[in-house]
Amino acid sequence: MKLLITGGAGFIGSHVVRLFVTKYPEYQIYNLDALTYAGNLANLTDIENAPNYTFVKGDITDAKFLEDMFAEMGFDGVIHLAAESHVDRSITDPMSFVMTNVVGTVNLLNAAKNSWKGNFEGKRFYHVSTDEVYGSLHNPEDFFTEETPYDPQSPYSASKAASDHFVRAYGNTYKLPVVLTNCSNNYGPNHFPEKLIPLMIHNIRNNKPLPVYGKGENVRDWLFVVDHARAIDTVFHKGTLGETYNIGGFNEWKNIDLVNLLCQIMDRKLGREEGTSAKLITYVTDRAGHDLRYAIDAHKIMNELGWQPSLQFEEGLEKTVDWFLANQEWLDNVTSGAYQSYYQGMYANR
Ligand SMILES: NC(=O)c1ccc[n+]([C@@H]2O[C@H](COP(=O)([O-])OP(=O)(O)OC[C@H]3O[C@@H](n4cnc5c(N)ncnc54)[C@H](O)[C@@H]3O)[C@@H](O)[C@H]2O)c1
Repeated sequence: MKLLITGGAGFIGSHVVRLFVTKYPEYQIYNLDALTYAGNLANLTDIENAPNYTFVKGDITDAKFLEDMFAEMGFDGVIHLAAESHVDRSITDPMSFVMTNVVGTVNLLNAAKNSWKGNFEGKRFYHVSTDEVYGSLHNPEDFFTEETPYDPQSPYSASKAASDHFVRAYGNTYKLPVVLTNCSNNYGPNHFPEKLIPLMIHNIRNNKPLPVYGKGENVRDWLFVVDHARAIDTVFHKGTLGETYNIGGFNEWKNIDLVNLLCQIMDRKLGREEGTSAKLITYVTDRAGHDLRYAIDAHKIMNELGWQPSLQFEEGLEKTVDWFLANQEWLDNVTSGAYQSYYQGMYANR
């Protein structure tokens, strides 16, 4: 199996690469990543010298590069995670989301289609997507199922919805062997500190204000990143082609409750008096078009494929805080931007 994983230097991608490289020594794993601000090879130092692992620096918006690479390598499978992933950035710069998430995904579909030439035996194209494509829930009893109509509300979720539609369209039109998953919010080690949980950990540690959008009433469904990687492994190997699976941990938290819980954990770990960190909470103007609630119904993947999350949220959050406190250098390098200059020039574009 020659397996291409895109976006493997990012948050979730690095956990997927690690899992596949260590669990399947018989596979050749190629990690294709453009190393944007979100890509960080320090996420993968523990496996970078594994004999079945190769890093390739490259951009999925470059169709010719992808065509050449597929023709040269002859991949059997693709797990596609490369994306622009931050909603706030999509509000200020939607076009880069169109380019990477939509155009990049179609480039990758074309490269796979042209390389496989209708011979799909043993081939698989897996697209990793988000629950944000379903829009926002307003009734507390509702959950997103695989049948929930798409209703994306942000430029990020619109770009992911478009890419999902293209993946399904290639499955339908060209019979490309596709499978998709839509997952809830992830958290865990190597999370880029522009996202809620690592940002709060970083700011609490440095006694900086903790910016909470609006009144902190928005609800998100959280999943430990390693459990997402395990789900991707399950769907890649056992999922039915043409199907979509929702992934989530039935674990909803209001942003403000989550931030308060983090403050309590951090007070305890840093030996601060209880209530110290919560004083840093600062309410800021709400994000434009902020979706109120996301909640995933993950029964299909649990019942049909036997996947289950391995960690309860409180346990996962403790592990995450411990990781960030033990890896302050990683966090400092990312927040200062030092990680980017370190890798600059080390990998030439193919
Ligand atoms: N983070 C979440 O909570 C979450 C939840 C569900 C689904 N997802 C999806 O999972 C995937 C990974 O998310 P993440 O949080 O790890 O993102 P991330 O931003 O941490 O990582 C994205 C990676 O893609 C790379 N990349 C960006 N543009 C590229 C391009 N043009 N060519 C090649 N590589 C490029 C970046 O360098 C980075 O390494 C995305 O598709 C995202 O939509 C994320």
